[in-house]
Amino acid sequence: MKNILFGIVIGCLIPIVAAVCFVRGGGMPVPTQGAPLPMERTLAKWALHAAMDKEVDRPSPVKPDEANFLAGARVYQAQCAVCHGRLGQPATAIATGMFPRPPQLLPPKKGVTDDSVGETYWKVKNGIRLTGMPGYGTTLSDPEMWQVSLLLLHADNLPGSVQELLRRPN
Ligand code: HEC
Repeated sequence: MKNILFGIVIGCLIPIVAAVCFVRGGGMPVPTQGAPLPMERTLAKWALHAAMDKEVDRPSPVKPDEANFLAGARVYQAQCAVCHGRLGQPATAIATGMFPRPPQLLPPKKGVTDDSVGETYWKVKNGIRLTGMPGYGTTLSDPEMWQVSLLLLHADNLPGSVQELLRRPN
């Protein structure tokens, strides 16, 4: 019995000691340039889906019309473009220096125009911890968060007036 207990304690301690040695020995990458750790992307994806999957089917209370796209584009230009890019412009220095890199959402990124509007709304409202993606739940109004989420959902099919606004350098 004693031997089994001893084995369990040692078995638990070895991975903890190994993890501490790995981090203290400089194994954990700190600079923003460089590849992710093995499994880092998969684990982050699992955690994100576990957190948001119950809420992503919410329909938008805001209509996908030109006035709402224009309002969403104003939010985008003021709050998002510094990281996610402006239409027809290269990635900013801020975006290029981040880890993980914020995806350039204009021109539309496949995978976001495919996401449900509720999923994008969830990310805008809550943010994604330890990535740099801010949560806007206390700083944007609820309609503003839906408007910018609808804008991204329809980013591959926006009226000319909205595209023109998104092309402005600031
Ligand atoms: C300071 C930089 C920054 C700002 C400002 C920012 N984001 Fe992000 N955003 C990120 C990063 C970094 C990620 C990638 C997170 C990851 O890899 O999981 C991200 C991810 C996302 C995603 C998920 C993309 C995908 O591929 O599934 C959406 C949608 C998004 N942001 C929308 C927005 C909107 C809308 C705004 C403005 C209201 C905004 N973001 C503002 C940094 C930013």
